[in-house]
Amino acid sequence: AQDKMPFRQHAVDSQLEKLALEQVVPALLDRGFFYVDHFLGDIAGQTVLGQVKRMHDCGLLDDGQLAGRRNGVCRRNIRGDKITWVNGNERGSEAVNFLLTLIDKLISSCDGLLGKSICARSKAMVACYPGNGAGYVKHVDNPNADGRCVTCIYYLNKNWNAKEHGGILRIFPEGKPYVADVEPLFDRLLLFWSDRRNPHEVQPSYATRYAITVWYFDSEERAEARRKFRDLTASTQERSSS
Ligand code: OGA
Ligand code: MN
Repeated sequence: AQDKMPFRQHAVDSQLEKLALEQVVPALLDRGFFYVDHFLGDIAGQTVLGQVKRMHDCGLLDDGQLAGRRNGVCRRNIRGDKITWVNGNERGSEAVNFLLTLIDKLISSCDGLLGKSICARSKAMVACYPGNGAGYVKHVDNPNADGRCVTCIYYLNKNWNAKEHGGILRIFPEGKPYVADVEPLFDRLLLFWSDRRNPHEVQPSYATRYAITVWYFDSEERAEARRKFRDLTASTQERSSS
């Protein structure tokens, strides 16, 4: 039985590579987003869900941060999710770690084919919209070249009925006459360009809505963003010391 493991591992890797080459790359280049169902399968997906629910039950999820100004608008009217960041090494996030390794493999299979050079990813953001009607207003994840190039969201919601529960992720592809609605269904993985090509919103959610998000970085944009940030910090220090 032991020597079956490497074979299975190889089968999984080649399936991910096939998905990357045949579907993810063409969809990203053509439409700018892509999603696939049954990404992990029922058992692994269920295990990830259990770990996320445990984090929520233990009180690990806090209000998400807002980038930029909010002009006196109540936070919850802009972004109503509760989040925590995990790297996968924490006790109780082993299944999340498994998910991350598979997404990493999928993305590295795309590398060199997207016109980007993907060098790193963020920690995983575990998010819960509590079902009180909160969502996330239309926004761009990376409007100002902070280095993030691909957003990946893994959804965890069994028996989700968008008519009743809302919670649709609506993408407004830049310059296109249509919108794309993605329901946050259990075991669905969504990928899209993080920049201004994909403004998106989370519509009000009326049931508990769980997702795990990671962002992948383009090495050049990341390096440039670091230089800019360093220059900014340097000039601020000059000003404060003069
Ligand atoms: C975000 C976001 C979308 C979703 O956290 O930036 O847009 O479907 N989330 O949860
Ligand atoms: Mn977003």
